[in-house]
Amino acid sequence: MALPPGSFGLPLIGDSLKFLRDSQFAKKRHQQHGPIFKTSIFGQPTVFMCGQEANLFVLSNDNRYFVVSFPPSTKALLGPLSLALQTGANHQNRRKLLYQAFQPRALAGYIGAMENITQRYLEKWVKMETMTWYPELRNYTFDVAGKLLVGIENGSETVLGHNFEIWSNGLFSIPLDVPWSQFGKAKKCRKLLLAELEKIIRDRQQGTPSGNDALSLLISARDDEGNSLSLEELKDQVLLLLFAGHETLTSAIASFCLLLAQHPDVMAKVRAEQQQFPAREPLTLEQLKQMTYLGLAEKA
Ligand code: HEM
Repeated sequence: MALPPGSFGLPLIGDSLKFLRDSQFAKKRHQQHGPIFKTSIFGQPTVFMCGQEANLFVLSNDNRYFVVSFPPSTKALLGPLSLALQTGANHQNRRKLLYQAFQPRALAGYIGAMENITQRYLEKWVKMETMTWYPELRNYTFDVAGKLLVGIENGSETVLGHNFEIWSNGLFSIPLDVPWSQFGKAKKCRKLLLAELEKIIRDRQQGTPSGNDALSLLISARDDEGNSLSLEELKDQVLLLLFAGHETLTSAIASFCLLLAQHPDVMAKVRAEQQQFPAREPLTLEQLKQMTYLGLAEKA
């Protein structure tokens, strides 16, 4: 079949370096070749599809014309049982299982812990004369993820937080498996992270009391056949959740803060809406639903 316009770049490495170094890569190629173009990234022939129509086509033909796939470094670091690497019926089955930790009732149980951590960071930020949002938010979202997923306090300051940073730096790297490469260091940290998670899970299974966290819900979750998650799978799934809930949220909140600062009219409306809620009372899911102006950000 005829391939879309574009080029495969250099032999072997294709356009990988350009893709990694230039944040405008897709935009430039889009302008050059149109919304559907071919290239070669991470050793794979690749087709980029941009725009609403293309997104609809891709997302509504999951498992028909498309299956999810990740670069070798991501696969090796996420682990074979990770939800992100599953396809077809197995993916649906595991997704349903993990959802048990994200049902509305579970979410309502997470609010108190999120509010405490947020309060702690706000008190710190208010005292700082200048601050850079991104690194602060990385620590903030890791503390939230650590607490809500596995029940650890101040996760960003722990060994788990340190190893997680090195691990996540290798997720989209060249899979050169030597101790000094980004990938090699990340692989070592995967082992350390899994060992730490195993300890947390075993403690839990032996009855260490837990607050409201996703891990306790996942330990008691059952699939349609009544089977629970094995220790190996629990570790891979929790690691995925730490990643999925951390990077994404940091990026989204950082953009949100930047855009609010750039649009004082929107900031004034957000503030006016917030002032309708009593600042000293604990936040509830009901109140969150009433923040309709703030909620527009997620619908946009
Ligand atoms: C602003 C925040 C977030 C954004 C923009 C975001 C975005 C995404 C996107 C684009 C996907 C891929 C969807 C697909 O392949 O169908 C995804 C998957 C996923 N996200 Fe998020 N996400 C966010 C927050 C979170 C949080 C807080 C969690 C939970 C801790 C989470 C857990 C997951 C999981 C487990 C998957 C894999 C789902 C699957 O394979 O079926 N995400 N996310």
